[in-house]
Amino acid sequence: MPLIDTHAHLNFQAFETDREEVIQRTLVSGKDNFEPLEAVVNVGANLDSSRKALQMAKENKKIFASVGVHPHHASQLYSGWLKEIESLALQPKVVALGEIGLDLHQYSSGIGDLEKQKEIFLTQVEVAKKIKKPVIFHCRNAWPDLLDILDYLKNPPKGVFHCFSGTRGQAKFLVESGFYLSFTGNITYKSAGNLREAVKEVPLERLMVETDCPYLPPEPFRGLRNEPLYVKIVASQIAEIKGLPLATVVDATTENARKLFKLD
Ligand code: NI
Repeated sequence: MPLIDTHAHLNFQAFETDREEVIQRTLVSGKDNFEPLEAVVNVGANLDSSRKALQMAKENKKIFASVGVHPHHASQLYSGWLKEIESLALQPKVVALGEIGLDLHQYSSGIGDLEKQKEIFLTQVEVAKKIKKPVIFHCRNAWPDLLDILDYLKNPPKGVFHCFSGTRGQAKFLVESGFYLSFTGNITYKSAGNLREAVKEVPLERLMVETDCPYLPPEPFRGLRNEPLYVKIVASQIAEIKGLPLATVVDATTENARKLFKLD
């Protein structure tokens, strides 16, 4: 079974000059010892990149889109943004709302931003619930706040915590709460012992893999632009940690992505 990159940004500027070549090797030819993937979910982070994700999904059968406003863009929205996100989200090739959530990593400007992020996040969660599509959650350095919101929601939408960066305990909690957890190339970094611990807490039936390209290239590609084919390295690292054959991790993560995102 081929892999699925459940979180890529081929819609971003970083792929502007050679996007078609990257898509070709990702989905058709492969490269070196990287076999072509079954599918890619291209994820939007604001209105522009969400529109682009949908456009690319319409042009290629194996590309799917997720649309949403990332917390870093929460304060740069035009007044009709929510209507547009909802109408994009209703398109058949759009398989999720995201990436949406909270991110306090680069925020030093105080609580105002956090409140805005929460508002934009919750509004989009409501859209996901209304149109019955899953959420791709983004959470960085904001775990207590995000977990509070989930608790407050009582009946949160289905979804995946992408680029999981929490603790082993938080991984356990999210699994018990019914979510999927997805890991990126940073699980190969020397400093990422916490992620290698956390993934032990995630059973195969809740696991997904992604690249988050162009960001977070796995070892030995650190410092270069990441691309969807390298999702194999993430799956290999997880297989090694769990003491399982690579094919077992590949099959499980592909099945999970098909199921959550209803890919066909
Ligand atoms: Ni991303």
